Amino acid sequence: MRSQKCGKLIAIDGGEGSGKSSLVDFLKSELSSSKVLFTREPGGTEIAEAIRAVALSKEYDEEMHPIAELLLMCAARAQHVEKKIAPALESGMNVITDRFSLSTYAYQLWGQNRLDLFSQLSQMDAMARGAIHNGHALIGGTKVDLQIVLDIPPRIGLARVSSRKGEINRFDLKDIDFHKRVREGFLTAESQGNTEIVDASQKQEVVQAEVLRIIKKTFAS
Ligand code: TYD
Repeated sequence: MRSQKCGKLIAIDGGEGSGKSSLVDFLKSELSSSKVLFTREPGGTEIAEAIRAVALSKEYDEEMHPIAELLLMCAARAQHVEKKIAPALESGMNVITDRFSLSTYAYQLWGQNRLDLFSQLSQMDAMARGAIHNGHALIGGTKVDLQIVLDIPPRIGLARVSSRKGEINRFDLKDIDFHKRVREGFLTAESQGNTEIVDASQKQEVVQAEVLRIIKKTFAS
């Protein structure tokens, strides 16, 4: 098992069109003088980015099996945590990741209607975060200090996606019911304790200021 981390890990998650990408750009410039590593999921390392390309591609004729999709997300996370996130935290850096475990629960369980896989995902996610077996329990591993959810009604989020120039991935093309379930999944995190839900339908400057305040408070704690 890895040694105790000393930096803080913050994950920013949210549905499509929640303004996550521009928020992350804003945070990069606001926090440029601090010791913060910005990264993303799926991806963040060479191999994890290669897994991302497969997981998000809309170019295959064959439909991706929901379990294959879930395993790919966990495989990318294992690589990302081991090679990038954990070493950075151990060196004392704070890390902000654009998506993390919560996205897998929201998209691969809630979105794909596979809540039956909850306990399997919990185990795999713990493994991907470097937890080890001790008897029957998985212990340790890289834990998130704070998860921020940018909450947006899917109708508004998807309208934003279709009006912007950015790349469209396989998930952007899912129907509105899928995105409603994803949102529901994200909102269940509210009860977890280390989660802040931010209303992403507010003005961009308001969302940015609120998230920056929450992040600074977490880094200072
Ligand atoms: P992202 O880079 O976040 O772009 P955007 O949200 O701006 O479209 O896209 C990553 C996609 O991967 C997003 O559609 C959600 C999906 N995803 C999952 O389905 N499961 C996961 O565990 C993660 C990390 C992402």
